[in-house]
Amino acid sequence: MCKKNRFYLTTPIYYPSDNLHIGHAYTTVAADTLKRFKKQMGIDAYFLTGSDEHGQKIERKAKAVGKTPKAYVDEIVANIKSLWKLLNVDYDDYIRTTDDRHVKVVQKIFKQLYDQGDIYLSKYEGLYCTTCEAFYTELQLKDGCCPDCGKPVEKTQEEAYFLKLSKYQDWLIDHIETHPDFIQPVSRKNEMLNNFLRPGLADLCVSRTSVTWGIPVEFNPKHTVYVWIDALSNYISALGYGSEDTSLFDKYWPCDVHFVGKEIIRFHTIIWPIILHAIGLPVPKQIFGHGWLVMNGQKMSKSLGNVIDPVVLSNKYGADAVRYYLMRAIPFGSDGQFSYETFLTLINADLSNTLGNLLSRTVAMIEKYFGGQVQAPSAYTDVDKELIALALATPAKVEVKFNEFQFPQALEEIWNLVGECNKYIDVTEPWILGKTEEGKERLKAVLYVLAECIRFIAVLITANMPNTPAKIYLQLGITDTELTTWDSLQQFGLLKAGTQVQKLDAIFPRVDIKAELAQLEPEVPATPQQKPTPKKETPVESEDKANTIGFDDFTKVQMHVGKVLSCEKVEKSDKLLKFQLDMGTEQRTIVSGIAKYYDPTTLVGKQLIVVTNLAPRKLRGIESQGMILSAVSTDSESKEEKLTLLTVEAEVQNGAEVG
Ligand code: MSP
Repeated sequence: MCKKNRFYLTTPIYYPSDNLHIGHAYTTVAADTLKRFKKQMGIDAYFLTGSDEHGQKIERKAKAVGKTPKAYVDEIVANIKSLWKLLNVDYDDYIRTTDDRHVKVVQKIFKQLYDQGDIYLSKYEGLYCTTCEAFYTELQLKDGCCPDCGKPVEKTQEEAYFLKLSKYQDWLIDHIETHPDFIQPVSRKNEMLNNFLRPGLADLCVSRTSVTWGIPVEFNPKHTVYVWIDALSNYISALGYGSEDTSLFDKYWPCDVHFVGKEIIRFHTIIWPIILHAIGLPVPKQIFGHGWLVMNGQKMSKSLGNVIDPVVLSNKYGADAVRYYLMRAIPFGSDGQFSYETFLTLINADLSNTLGNLLSRTVAMIEKYFGGQVQAPSAYTDVDKELIALALATPAKVEVKFNEFQFPQALEEIWNLVGECNKYIDVTEPWILGKTEEGKERLKAVLYVLAECIRFIAVLITANMPNTPAKIYLQLGITDTELTTWDSLQQFGLLKAGTQVQKLDAIFPRVDIKAELAQLEPEVPATPQQKPTPKKETPVESEDKANTIGFDDFTKVQMHVGKVLSCEKVEKSDKLLKFQLDMGTEQRTIVSGIAKYYDPTTLVGKQLIVVTNLAPRKLRGIESQGMILSAVSTDSESKEEKLTLLTVEAEVQNGAEVG
């Protein structure tokens, strides 16, 4: 049977933890993005995730809250599932290691390995705490005593089963060396070969008599199966391996890729392939070890107290913003430093300004110039053709990057198209075209090209941002699902003339970074394990109070960036200059009393900061629609008043909000 058109991918199964953090969400969002992309490609992709519910830790936690382990994990698993729902994670199956279907398979694998002599009974020697009924290693001890209850430990032996890893070591080295894609990135492959495999593998202890919350060894039930043998088997138990119905297993195994964090790559690339090979099954095609989300230089983890809650971020800024950040900001395979500031900055820059503005400007112009109806282009100019060529070339580039798990690079290709669309608006100057009949004919093509490019962009972002395309299609008036498929990107021009657009709310409202940071950051300790010190309120003197305004008052002032298209002296006035500004979706005339400070010709092309919601007023018969901001100071030598216009530090889109 041909398996080329199928793709099986997995995340690790998660330990049931009260609050999964954004680091956990990283693996899952990556897998979900890939699955959705494969689906767009017409591939039958199957995505498995789940939870890893056995072990002494769970048993103790459940006991502490007076619950049975199963009742305890049931609640947590419900939370994990609702997090995946919130983040729009579209898994095909959720396996729990407490599922009966899983338990049976683990027992079967264990028995087969025992029957064929790959598992044997021996003695496990370690430092044992009788109170906690647990073994510890020298390193785990706290001042030579049990790390949990603090009591002395004793050297003890426990009967245990062992797996003959050593028997398969040479086979595995050979497999890794002859299958360059098996462990990715390459650095992880070298680490496994040099640090673990070549120095030699010791046989692995695969059962415990001291752990009761686990899968019993069928033929010797006082033993439970070692948690990693239990957990790793999920990848095939979920497919029905060894059950009456093996159709999924036959269809999807071997797995195309296991996505795992780098700290668990060893289990996946040594223990797992050896088990599979020993029981006569093909091994996964690839195990990809991604990096960690770190904060303050350390892996984000609950015990360090440096975790970020994905629920808070998704509820505040939307799942798509979180998904975009995770896949855009961190190269898959490397560690990435999380900071609220980069997260918020990315929302504003890429989602709100670049993508959101492109959509709202385009729709607003179609409404303004053509009553909201997309017009048929009569001819394309070279500038149009260039942008069309880029739109048509982008899907193939994105496809290559997604297939290589280069998520940030795939998104970069898409945002390159978004950026070029914005530049195209600057170059074609629709507001000037809209002034004449001839210009309006040309404007039909310009706005058509933009709307069609936005359709391309919506399709391209679907895998990573599943919520946003529908919002874009709604504004663009696209209802035909044929226009939303990847295949539809082979042709430019499918958007029908006459389609009715509608300007709705911004798809990504701009966030006020300072205000958001003030709310979010107190939750993060400055260094791990350090609780934030509550900020002391500085008493405000009544005199100062009179000079302050509330935040709400401040947000009433709307400011935007505008580019000077023309600037000239106002007739019969020494003070006034008349500006014509490009504000993105419109032009504005503003009269400003700064003639004695500037030669008007030097100002053309500058980007200035404009207060845009001031009531218009007439100056020398000209209606001024806003105010241009400037800083006023006194020259220290001449003591003369100096005025400097406020501008932006780097070029931004005209119309960008200031705040
Ligand atoms: N239960 C095991 C996996 C068994 S798979 C047969 C486990 N669970 S976990 O809940 O601790 O981790 C689940 C996934 O989340 C792992 O891929 C892990 O690497 C990932 N992450 C946990 N913290 C992370 C970060 N701070 N950053 C990125 N990924 C992180 O391991």
